Amino acid sequence: MANGQKTKGKTHEQYNLLAGRFDRLIDWNERLRISNFFIRLLREHNAKKILDMSTGTGPDSIALCKKGFEVVSLDGSLDMIERAKINAERYGVKLRTVVADWRTIGNVFCTQFEGAICLGNSFTHLEHREREEVVKQVRGLLVQNGVFIADYRNYSRLSRGLPIRLEDGGYYTGKGAEMKAELRDGLVVQSYIFDDGAKFTLSFKPVFIDEAIAEFESSGFVVRIFSDRRKGYKKNASFYQLEGKAN
Ligand SMILES: C[S@@+](CC[C@H](N)C(=O)[O-])C[C@H]1O[C@@H](n2cnc3c(N)ncnc32)[C@H](O)[C@@H]1O
Repeated sequence: MANGQKTKGKTHEQYNLLAGRFDRLIDWNERLRISNFFIRLLREHNAKKILDMSTGTGPDSIALCKKGFEVVSLDGSLDMIERAKINAERYGVKLRTVVADWRTIGNVFCTQFEGAICLGNSFTHLEHREREEVVKQVRGLLVQNGVFIADYRNYSRLSRGLPIRLEDGGYYTGKGAEMKAELRDGLVVQSYIFDDGAKFTLSFKPVFIDEAIAEFESSGFVVRIFSDRRKGYKKNASFYQLEGKAN
């Protein structure tokens, strides 16, 4: 399924550059353990055919494949997808991959899914209007009663003087890099310093959770919120998880 083409755009180019080092951010045993939370949610909804929208180097796709889900693994970065395939081989599974941009995701498939996931704070790379449009397209890719799960770092912590650390939320507990996040002129500037000295900076508009909930609801999803994978809203959580059920 991989089309082998590099997508254009700043974020894709940045992730193509990051791909060789991205796994240094991840402690795979810990990350696969966290995937169990999402697996439980998907099973609650009887969702077996899943679209992983932000495959990255593959942790969630691999965890789902290992548990017998039927997964299609999409990402805008060809180099991240290539890493994911190598990791999948290490874990004894084969991924069905697609390189595509979320902004055109509605045109990519001629099939529907029972679930879609967008994890690891990925959605933050789009701005509100774009996310709104993409969530609508994702709704169109899901069967009735399908489920869409996305997660978001809680950037409102920064405006209250609370730190954001790489390892918060348990997704990125690898020991191969440090991360600093700060607010500059309304943008989050997130810098990674890797243990081999390489530095990367990503900057984007922070997603606030009310905005994310509204994006889901305006596309016809019934939303449940989790704070650090526990039911309900907590102001100082590190990560929020949103589960949208398609009506
Ligand atoms: C923070 S990484 C998370 C990867 C993985 N989900 C994880 O948790 O490790 C974000 C991923 O989203 C992908 N991405 C960002 N913007 C995208 C877009 N507009 N279309 C498709 N993929 C995108 C990046 O290429 C990257 O692999």
